[in-house]
Amino acid sequence: MSFFEYHVFVCTNVRQDGSSCCASLGAKKARTYLKERCKELGIHGSGRVRINNAGCLDRCAQGPVLVIYPEETWYTYVDNDDLDEIITRHLQQGQVVERLKI
Ligand code: FES
Repeated sequence: MSFFEYHVFVCTNVRQDGSSCCASLGAKKARTYLKERCKELGIHGSGRVRINNAGCLDRCAQGPVLVIYPEETWYTYVDNDDLDEIITRHLQQGQVVERLKI
C-alpha cells in the first residue's frame, strides 16, 4: 500500500533566461493554493494527499503543469477554479478531469 493515496507534483520551475516556465504562469501560487485547500478539506497528509514542488517536468510548452501519481495523470490549469475541480473530482472522487488533462 502506498504511503499516500495521491501524490501531486506541481512544477514550479523558474527559468533564469526569461523564457516561459511554470513559475511565470502562476505555479507557485497554485501549489500553495492546492496545499491549503487540501488541508482545509482534511485530505492532506499521510494516507491521503501530498502536494510537492517539482522542478521542470519537461512539458513546459503545455504549462503550467502538474502530475498526480499513482496513475501518472497530467494536468494543466489556468486558475483556482481549475484547481478546485482537480481537487474535488480527482483527489476526492477518484475521477479524471478530462478537460484539463494533457
Ligand atoms: S517549466 Fe514546468 S514543465 Fe518545464
